[in-house]
Amino acid sequence: MHLQKELEKLLATASPSRKDYVRKEFEGFTSLFRRFLAEEGPSVDWNKIEKLPTNAIRNYEELATPTAENIHKMLQKLVVVKLNGGLGTSMGCRGPKSVIPVRNDLTFLDLTVQQIEELNKQYKVNVPLVLMNSFNTDEDTEKILRKYNNIQIEIHTFSQSCFPRINRDSFLPIAKNCNIEEDIEAWYPPGHGDFYESFKNSGLLKKFIDTGREYCFISNIDNLGATVDLKILNTLMNPIDDVHEFVMEVTDKTRADVKGGTLMQYENKLRLLEIAQVPNDHLDDFKSIKTFKYFNTNNIWVKLDAIDRVIEENILNMEIIINKKVVNGINVVQLETAVGAAMKCFENAIGINVPRSRFLPVKKTSDLLLVMSNLYNLKFGSLRMSPQRMFPATPLVKLGDSHFSKVKEFLSRFANIPDILELDHLTVSGDVTFGKNVSLKGTVIIIANHGDRIDVPSGAILENKIVSGNLRI
Ligand code: UTP
Repeated sequence: MHLQKELEKLLATASPSRKDYVRKEFEGFTSLFRRFLAEEGPSVDWNKIEKLPTNAIRNYEELATPTAENIHKMLQKLVVVKLNGGLGTSMGCRGPKSVIPVRNDLTFLDLTVQQIEELNKQYKVNVPLVLMNSFNTDEDTEKILRKYNNIQIEIHTFSQSCFPRINRDSFLPIAKNCNIEEDIEAWYPPGHGDFYESFKNSGLLKKFIDTGREYCFISNIDNLGATVDLKILNTLMNPIDDVHEFVMEVTDKTRADVKGGTLMQYENKLRLLEIAQVPNDHLDDFKSIKTFKYFNTNNIWVKLDAIDRVIEENILNMEIIINKKVVNGINVVQLETAVGAAMKCFENAIGINVPRSRFLPVKKTSDLLLVMSNLYNLKFGSLRMSPQRMFPATPLVKLGDSHFSKVKEFLSRFANIPDILELDHLTVSGDVTFGKNVSLKGTVIIIANHGDRIDVPSGAILENKIVSGNLRI
């Protein structure tokens, strides 16, 4: 293979201390690329999708609550993993996404550390926190972790793989050498599905198994609802029937999440179905809330020795996500995988239908508005919806891209975050600013036309109101 020769050439440019490490990564990359070349047609035959078996998805409300004594024992066998490979670019920030302040000047990372610290204190245990960084986030994260040196919590980090981007015409790497800093655009982190192999390669998997840890709880670091749940942990540690090697937390699909991954029964296994795998003529079926009721929160629990086994047996064949990009004018392809796609490789996998509160992702500044507001109370790093909110659903918030998409700009437009306890729907577009102690209720739409500006005055109460043009409020 031509590619192999090019990879050998690249490897020769790696510094002697990194050579073995890079070789191992290239092996992982080659195996992914080979699978990509061998693939024919779509990975899912729609006619082979079966109805979900009863008991495939457990209802969270029906899970047993563990006793205090049990909790201590179970937590001693747990490892918490946060996926921390992503940057804050989509929210207009530099550096790792996890260092963006999200509430009371606390970052995603601070909140995670506080949660684990509290858990350890409360149950007198020592649950370790593991961060999977990428080459994009590793250095900055390591620097920031120093501030937790005095906190009684065991934090481990490892870096996920760094794969070469491939020219779509020649099918060869665009990198000229292995010095990533020289041309960072020539490399990419291959998605969170890379967790399993990178975790094993780091030596941490073995270390945790050897010290009696049994399960890991993996989640996106930007999901503020992904706290350690004791009922789910109990379901894994004290199973009624067979041992579940893998649990995916799913939640009821609403119209806002029709594009999210869902679960299906396929070739006698429970599996993740992502929109990219769906044949065009079945897209509407996929989006139907009736046919596919649940979607994946990416909160995942996996048995540690099972991870080791599927890698050793070489059966970790997650579906490949083909991500096409243009980098410096060159058409490239990067192959990625998703952590949930490994579900089919494990024995006795189940889904647990969890409350929506376990899925609180912060992807945009509109999400930030919610988590910074009085809609939530913060306690020991966990956000809880305020009991003063009458409806369990969160408000639907849309903030205009041109003036609100970057965190800094978003913050500069609010003297403080409005009271949104009674808000159902908010749309803001154009050059709009908010004074202090504004209250938004029901449906509020504020649209400043091009060239106009709307300043919502301090103390204003807007209830079921449309404001547009340069009208005064
Ligand atoms: P993203 O923010 O990129 O994905 O990563 P998403 O749009 O939510 O969709 P899903 O969950 O991939 O379907 C989610 C989490 O995974 C981490 C990010 O840091 C974030 O916490 N991540 C992503 C990695 O650690 N490595 C990667 O290669 C990609």
